[in-house]
Amino acid sequence: MSFEESIWGKLLSFLAVFTVIVAAIFYYLENTDSAEFPRMDVPVLEESFRGKNKSCFILGASGETGKVLLRELVERKLFTKITLIGRRQLTFEDNAYENLVQEVVDFEKLDDYAAAFQGHDVGYCCLGTTKAKAGTEGFIRVDHDYVLKSAELAKAGGCSHFHLESSNGADKTSSFLYLKVKGQVEADIEELGFDRFSIYRPAVLLVDRQERRPAEWMARKFLGALSSVFPTAMSIPIESVARAMVANTLIEGQKKVEILENKDIYNLGKMGGK
Ligand SMILES: NC(=O)c1ccc[n+]([C@@H]2O[C@H](COP(=O)([O-])OP(=O)(O)OC[C@H]3O[C@@H](n4cnc5c(N)ncnc54)[C@H](OP(=O)(O)O)[C@@H]3O)[C@@H](O)[C@H]2O)c1
Repeated sequence: MSFEESIWGKLLSFLAVFTVIVAAIFYYLENTDSAEFPRMDVPVLEESFRGKNKSCFILGASGETGKVLLRELVERKLFTKITLIGRRQLTFEDNAYENLVQEVVDFEKLDDYAAAFQGHDVGYCCLGTTKAKAGTEGFIRVDHDYVLKSAELAKAGGCSHFHLESSNGADKTSSFLYLKVKGQVEADIEELGFDRFSIYRPAVLLVDRQERRPAEWMARKFLGALSSVFPTAMSIPIESVARAMVANTLIEGQKKVEILENKDIYNLGKMGGK
């Protein structure tokens, strides 16, 4: 065997072993347990929910998850009033969006905008930034401080069910800043004592993001290709997250604080589709 043949042989063996290890990891992640959800008759639940004349607000409606969530809520007409709370006014061409209320706030002075958070039954938070975009302090400010302050104002304003889009691996004791901040904000909001607090911990969001994020783009290409075989191991379509949030709004009698891991979100999103 020539030197070249032996190098190729070793490379192929390495690739084969690497592929088997990666497949085993994905198989393991894919087959973790998932929460049990009651069987849902979605049209009946929706009809009953509409009858309650509830209102909601969305934080982060201009972001990728927030946009899809908003579209689901508008199309399904579950709330009598939807308020978008954000740092800028959004424009919509579709007439279906004309009844939305928009509150433009300065997140650095949220106490001055307490009125924007008054009188909503349900709150959805899809707010967030990245360390690359905002720096370490900016990231903590947005993903922890803005989110927690908003939750406090919402609770004081009468909100009973708060939904938080957090992240897979969130853990306040983590040594990774991102996971630590996500875990800390979950824990701090839990302390507020909402009647119901739903925490969603999605893995990498599969979405054609408008903003350029090269590392996330690469991860999405790789995970997107694998998602047909391993749909929940390390990623999730953004529609699943939005639909799970909507479905979970319709179910009553759930725990006061619930954590939905990636697979739970995926399964609930599938059950709660139109
Ligand atoms: N990307 C992922 O793969 C992934 C995975 C798991 C969890 N998550 C988490 O899921 C959540 C939603 O993610 P996404 O990708 O849907 O969000 P996104 O597209 O990045 O949107 C973020 C939202 O937060 C707002 N925002 C950002 N910085 C702000 C600031 N300084 N002041 C006020 N508002 C600000 C944005 O408003 P503007 O439009 O005005 O900028 C936008 O509405 C985030 O908390 C994220 O950490 C993401």
